[in-house]
Amino acid sequence: MSKPATIAIDGFAGSGKSTAAARLAEALGYLYFDTGVMYRAVTWAILERGIDPRDEERVSEVAEALIIDVVAEGPDDGRQFTVLADGVDITWAIRESAVEANVSLVSSYPRVRTVLTNQQRRIAAAGPVVMAGRDIGTVVLPQADLKIFLEASAEERARRRCKQLKEQNKPIDYEYILKAIMERDKKDQTNPVSPTIPAEDAVILNTDNLKVDEVLGELQTLVQQVRNGLKIG
Ligand code: DC
Repeated sequence: MSKPATIAIDGFAGSGKSTAAARLAEALGYLYFDTGVMYRAVTWAILERGIDPRDEERVSEVAEALIIDVVAEGPDDGRQFTVLADGVDITWAIRESAVEANVSLVSSYPRVRTVLTNQQRRIAAAGPVVMAGRDIGTVVLPQADLKIFLEASAEERARRRCKQLKEQNKPIDYEYILKAIMERDKKDQTNPVSPTIPAEDAVILNTDNLKVDEVLGELQTLVQQVRNGLKIG
């Protein structure tokens, strides 16, 4: 398999990693896999079953039994892919505020992380992949051929979020959004189980002043450098 066959793209919420990873995967003809949907799927499943998100034992049991599938097929309603939990289409449900509010706690449980990490490794072993998340370069695929950590300032990420909300005709409160982003960053950075930090050999790319196409261009240059045998990171 030609290198880089495994590409890890990590970064904070709103860093643009999902868009960048999806575009890179498309350009390379690789599978794109967004690991955040798995943590969201477990969170959706426990809420659906009426389980208290603080009940680590029961949450872990659900994570260990749940069958999560991410497939390309699905209705033409703006989705990038379809997420199934035990066969139920939860693509949009995992973006709702109840999931958003509890996913951080659910993803802090070691047994949840272990079972999802193992599934992610199996997916990566099956073929060339661009995998996006928080701990892909550090924990899930420490041997990845190329590791990228995307950064963007909290202010820039708040501006991007406001733009998205405006496009959806939803109310906007920049200061509130900025504060929420900063609080979430702090939680993610200091999470003792799997903090969001760049791997030692990751390339750190700041996207504050880059358009999506420019980010893609930078990533393609890095891929080319790996193909040319250059040591990256
Ligand atoms: O990227 P996202 O917003 O869809 O991630 C949802 C949550 O899952 C977020 O709280 C971070 C967590 N997550 C994680 O802990 N590890 C990953 N590899 C991916 C996401």
